[in-house]
Amino acid sequence: MKLMVINGPNLNMLGVREKGVYGKKSFEEVCKYIESEGKKRGNDITLFQSNIEGEIINCIQKAYYEEYDGIIINPGAFTHYSYALHDAIKGVSIPTVEIHLSNIHAREEFRKTSVTAPACIGQICGFGEFGYIMAMEALLIK
Ligand code: DQA
Repeated sequence: MKLMVINGPNLNMLGVREKGVYGKKSFEEVCKYIESEGKKRGNDITLFQSNIEGEIINCIQKAYYEEYDGIIINPGAFTHYSYALHDAIKGVSIPTVEIHLSNIHAREEFRKTSVTAPACIGQICGFGEFGYIMAMEALLIK
């Protein structure tokens, strides 16, 4: 499958930010892990990260025009309030899985709401970087 893996704001700071919550692996290490596990499963992976909402929306639209089969997205804090990302995901009709490294339901109240998950086929959270791999497997059944 041709998969677009999108990481939102502050995920480029993995390995630096709140290691107790997000783990010690650097963002680069996590990207390498996603790429190699993706390859093992025969997927063609494109990785994209941005701290800017509009750039993420452009990337989702690019996935449509370039005929991607699936999107795996960790929207970071945009998860909790970006209706623009919700609309972008919904608008392209590409099967999309939302993932979070941490269990957003076991943290602060504001993290328990995802405005983007209803535009996705499902949400995976709480399993660290393994969540990206779980999302690849989940896309196989769609
Ligand atoms: C996160 C959870 C979000 O609440 C937070 O804003 C992030 C990371 C996660 O992967 O657990 O930036 O998406």
